[in-house]
Amino acid sequence: MKLIPLLQCIIRQKVHSSVLSPLGVPRIKPVSTARRSLVFVSRPQNKYEDSSYWNIRWTGGTTIWHKWEVDELLKKHYHFLQTGNNQSSIFVPLCGKSIDMKWLADKGHAVVGIDIVELAAQQFFTESNIPFKKYTTDDFSVYESTDDMMKIKFIVGDLFKCSVERIGSFDAIWDCNSIIAINPDDTKRYAKLLDSLLKSSGRILLSTYEFEDLSGRDQPPHNLPPDAVKGLFGEKYSIAVKETLDHTALFCIKYQIPWAQRHLLYLSKNN
Ligand SMILES: C[S@@+](CC[C@H](N)C(=O)[O-])C[C@H]1O[C@@H](n2cnc3c(N)ncnc32)[C@H](O)[C@@H]1O
Repeated sequence: MKLIPLLQCIIRQKVHSSVLSPLGVPRIKPVSTARRSLVFVSRPQNKYEDSSYWNIRWTGGTTIWHKWEVDELLKKHYHFLQTGNNQSSIFVPLCGKSIDMKWLADKGHAVVGIDIVELAAQQFFTESNIPFKKYTTDDFSVYESTDDMMKIKFIVGDLFKCSVERIGSFDAIWDCNSIIAINPDDTKRYAKLLDSLLKSSGRILLSTYEFEDLSGRDQPPHNLPPDAVKGLFGEKYSIAVKETLDHTALFCIKYQIPWAQRHLLYLSKNN
């Protein structure tokens, strides 16, 4: 990272003050949010979240969100996804080539992931050394593990084309920073869709980021604080923030964003 943006990050951190969010989570609130509002109003519809944007990210090798280790918060809070037993079905929306899917399948879960970019599916199976077959349905291409001990289906296609009829319903959902990759105008639709795919009494383990973007870099990841998640999923869910981690250093380096927190939420669907 260049020295000047790093110094700017550090200086900006100094002008922030600490407050509590509406869910009672301690956070550092920026002095002004006026710039963010302006950015959201002026952003062209779907500029950054269509399939060509993501294809370029994948073919250009700029998948900087990818983790080569199983997510630390998934490992710690995995029990929340176990609705009764290890056989529960788990949906991983906007999965990228996340190795969390293999980790969950190793535990006995039937895992279904979806990503709009086919290269993600190819790299996932190749890099994880999982044998697979590929087939097409009316709506999607599907890569499916042929290892009997590992139940993983990777759907290539647009999440917004999913329905229970097309892909089934699930006991649990692992949303690992996926909701913040969605165009902010579509997050309500996204939450509604996840709800429609989740069985009654199902659970969502959801990771989101809260940050202040003073740079005007207006592209994913988007800022989505816990109270906004609560607003999206509404009364149907009991929602609790289970963990909050400081991600300022990471966001400073990756995006020149001067302040960031990662939140992990439990969402339990009420009957
Ligand atoms: C920020 S990445 C998150 C990847 C993953 N959750 C992880 O933790 O590594 C967002 C991913 O969503 C995919 N994506 C974006 N819009 C999508 C859509 N409408 N349907 C399916 N996948 C989509 C992109 O191709 C990209 O791989």
